[in-house]
Amino acid sequence: MELIGPISQLVTLQDLPLKGPISDSALPVISNAGIAIENSTIVAVDNWDLLVARYPTASITALEGAYVAVPGYIDCHTHICFGGNRARDFALRNAGVSYLEIAQSGGGIWDTVTQTRKCTEQELTQIVIKNANKHLQSGVTTIEVKSGYGLSIEEEIKMLRAIYKGNNETAADLVATCLAAHLKPKDFNGSNEAYLNYLVTNLFPVLRSENLTNRIDAFVESSAFSVDEIAPYLQAAKALNFDITIHADQFTTGGSQVAVQFGALSADHLEASGDKEIEALAQSNTIAVALPGASVGLGCSFAPARKILNKGGALAIASDWNPGSAPMGDLVCQASILATFEKITTAEVFSGITFRAAAALNLFDRGRLVAGNKADFILYPTTDYRDILYYQGSLRPSKIWKSGKLIGA
Ligand code: NIG
Ligand code: FE
Repeated sequence: MELIGPISQLVTLQDLPLKGPISDSALPVISNAGIAIENSTIVAVDNWDLLVARYPTASITALEGAYVAVPGYIDCHTHICFGGNRARDFALRNAGVSYLEIAQSGGGIWDTVTQTRKCTEQELTQIVIKNANKHLQSGVTTIEVKSGYGLSIEEEIKMLRAIYKGNNETAADLVATCLAAHLKPKDFNGSNEAYLNYLVTNLFPVLRSENLTNRIDAFVESSAFSVDEIAPYLQAAKALNFDITIHADQFTTGGSQVAVQFGALSADHLEASGDKEIEALAQSNTIAVALPGASVGLGCSFAPARKILNKGGALAIASDWNPGSAPMGDLVCQASILATFEKITTAEVFSGITFRAAAALNLFDRGRLVAGNKADFILYPTTDYRDILYYQGSLRPSKIWKSGKLIGA
């Protein structure tokens, strides 16, 4: 047993609800706190003096200076496995060309597919490790990573193997998701339905046999796959017990309805969601995931996060880190920006990047600093937890524990 402390403020997030609004007065904070851990698990969090008295034989990791502790963050939506970059797209957008126009003229997702296909599996693995470690240094200890820039059986498998191997070589936990239904590739000879059918027949069995992922994502959008096209694909995924997540309502609606209908774990984006979509999400068990990094990257409106919470929905916040719409990859900065524009309380923001995001990944062993959970936590060199969002990502964690091990910063 190891005791770590004393910690000026420890934000546990204990007992906060999965759905609905949370006022800042409800945020559970222990002052002069400590954390007791054994191997990779939290044994107790409590007042430091009480912990030291309760576990007299434990080894003590005494902290010099003042710190605030929060759970390691969970980024439940990223595309950090990719080749190349799309700085050209970014400049074009800022010069007035739209995201969809750029995509139609050979830029956009297809450009990244071309760059990603040129990478070997080993090169992609190194890219995943590099991006995951960068995220880890800003306190993100669990990272969902999507495929979706391969768009053929071989290339999607290459991406998912790179994510699998990357997971073994970073201290962060990577959760892989298959996004082969991102776009019908330009070199596929056939309809959208034929492409999706080809994935069901040829890719789904390999995902299972190689244990590459348990999660299926799809981009439901007029420029990608329609509600009617995607339904049989999701039906097939469900029949094989895959968890579902959907890129929904980014530019046009329809995706969130599909997500709710198929019992998806999450519906992500939602910038275009209106009252009907918000109501349906709030009534469901599907987590609504706001991606402020994509709003900032594209210069679009934010997902209606405040309305989703007020209607009783579960709101997570993720980075969508990708080379096209969200190149920044700074979750805390983006969550803080969403908070200012959408009026999201500090308690709701921390919930959205911890246990609510974990639920979007079907993980219930992390995201709160409570006994029995994974010992994933980060320490900031400050005495006030509000400083974390106030500094909009520029206050960096100075110590990071992942699965009970200090990995440093
Ligand atoms: O989540 N919307 C679709 N997919 C990604 C963007 C991928 C890209 O532009 O490369 C997203 O924003
Ligand atoms: Fe995305």
